[in-house]
Amino acid sequence: MCGIFGCILKNGNAAPIIHSALKKLEYRGYDSVGTATVYKNKLFIKKDKGKIDEVHALHNLDDLPGRIGIGHTRWATHGAPYQVNTHPHTDCKEQIAVVHNGIIENFAELKMELEERGHVFRSKTDTEVIAHLIEEKLTGGLTLAEAAREALRQVVGSYAIAVVSVTEPDKIVCARKESPLVVGVAENALYFASDIPAFLPLTNRSVVIQDEEIIILNDGEYEIRKIPDWELVKREPEVIDWTSEMAEKQGYPHFMLKEIHEQPSCLRSTLRLQDQFLELMTTFIDRAGEVFLVACGTSHNACIAASYMFSKLALSATHPVIASEFVEQHGKSVNIDSTLLAVSQSGETADTLAALECARQRAATVLGLTNVVGSTLTRVARVYVCQQSGPEIGVAATKTFTSQLSVLSQLALRLAKRRGKISHVEIEDLEEKLKQMPDIIERIIQTKEEKLRQIAKKYKDKRCFFFLGRGISYAVALEGRLKLMEIAYVPAIAYPAGESKHGPISLIEPGFPVIFICPKDDTHKTVIGNIMEMKARGASIIALVEEGDEEIKSLADDYIEIATGLPEVLSPIPFVVPLQLFAYYMAVERKCDPDMPRNLAKSVTVK
Ligand code: F6R
Repeated sequence: MCGIFGCILKNGNAAPIIHSALKKLEYRGYDSVGTATVYKNKLFIKKDKGKIDEVHALHNLDDLPGRIGIGHTRWATHGAPYQVNTHPHTDCKEQIAVVHNGIIENFAELKMELEERGHVFRSKTDTEVIAHLIEEKLTGGLTLAEAAREALRQVVGSYAIAVVSVTEPDKIVCARKESPLVVGVAENALYFASDIPAFLPLTNRSVVIQDEEIIILNDGEYEIRKIPDWELVKREPEVIDWTSEMAEKQGYPHFMLKEIHEQPSCLRSTLRLQDQFLELMTTFIDRAGEVFLVACGTSHNACIAASYMFSKLALSATHPVIASEFVEQHGKSVNIDSTLLAVSQSGETADTLAALECARQRAATVLGLTNVVGSTLTRVARVYVCQQSGPEIGVAATKTFTSQLSVLSQLALRLAKRRGKISHVEIEDLEEKLKQMPDIIERIIQTKEEKLRQIAKKYKDKRCFFFLGRGISYAVALEGRLKLMEIAYVPAIAYPAGESKHGPISLIEPGFPVIFICPKDDTHKTVIGNIMEMKARGASIIALVEEGDEEIKSLADDYIEIATGLPEVLSPIPFVVPLQLFAYYMAVERKCDPDMPRNLAKSVTVK
């Protein structure tokens, strides 16, 4: 996730306006920043790695001439955060500049073809192919907008782009597919941005650009066309009545809720990861004598789910270990045949890095799954995969958890395929269901959020909760409990449902709330038995069930239905979403700030 912004002013200098708008988009990415302006038929570019303030202190981002310009604040996906990989990117002749938010899936093929035709690339980014493609189309005699359209027709993936060119110095051409793009319309200026807060102090009139549309900005006028058939689209600006603070959270009251709602789009991004890195990681896992999945907190819960995925799909045992325990538990036995897959949203968690360091010293192989390219984990790992969820501001991990699950399930699936442990039909079914996951989650959020708010209202004063699940749903129980405890400050206990009768059941008294996670997998029958045990002792049952599961619905005091027919190994992805929403609304009901829970930090860099 990156932020893009640009403007065409009637008068004045674009660069300072771009600079302050990018500051408002910094939450979307902050590892490098750049601006390009067009002035007297020349491009002027300043860009570097680092936070906006750091780059401004070095280069003065306000000091570029011209009333037209584009800017970018980056969250690295392809290519580490170096100056050369910072946007804007240019063509061979440095006449065209492009900023881009999204992922070009077929960039490697396009780049190879362009290089064969003599184009010289400067960066390792996927974005640069767009500049060179437009360059080719322009030499064929097309206008800038037509050239952008032709280039984008060759591109597979997601994008919000903006292009300026010295060949048409009065225009900015923008386009979008699956990445956000809005245009701001003012008396004396036109703006585009990834997000409304970037221009809200300047205008509250906005035009939302839809998928596969191009918008041509030109001195106070704009023209929207559909990319597939070049049809003209008439769309008037709408008035936005958000305050600046509301706009930063896109109208949501908290970042956590916004991030829960972002999960469909984050999951779509995890389906576009670079094949070569997933394959390489699979190779290391395949060859390892033993595999440890090392992480803390929510990332550890993802690892527990992953251990079921590897076991069920690839028939391969992996060991999820809490990072802070790794050195004590395995520090002496880990060796050259061991592989550690470290899972860390931030890539900076001290406990996780300490476990890796111990393993590295004993010649083990270290792999990483993280959300932050350029983090320590990406530097120490032999291979890393970036989960591409975009920055997560809420302290409680939500969108990054479901994205981790998606990537880990893809790794387990690849290993299963490679080892011939899974049938063709199962592979196709899993791949298909992974593709459907964003829509399934969208539907849960759309149809169940209000009900979860009501359930939270009903149970807000309960002093303790149980979360129970069997098999892979145990990981979901753990994550539901962690969310509730950390943001609503309600003590909660999570167990494999079968284990509860070995002790914790003594806590149950009439009205004690027990949340059961009940997908219709092999554990379903035994879970019903566990529900009966709790009910017999007067517990209030809140059940997460698949649609049409009348048996469990009839036993539950409250239930939430989730799409049916999911493969067992993918069920944690949709089943955790109601628990995130429940924890969120419990926090709101109990007057706690879900974005900033007490005593916690987003990145824990002490041991
Ligand atoms: C819980 C949460 C924490 C983190 C943990 C590990 O909502 O966010 O439990 O999951 O501190 O952080 P990363 O994944 O950055 O290593």
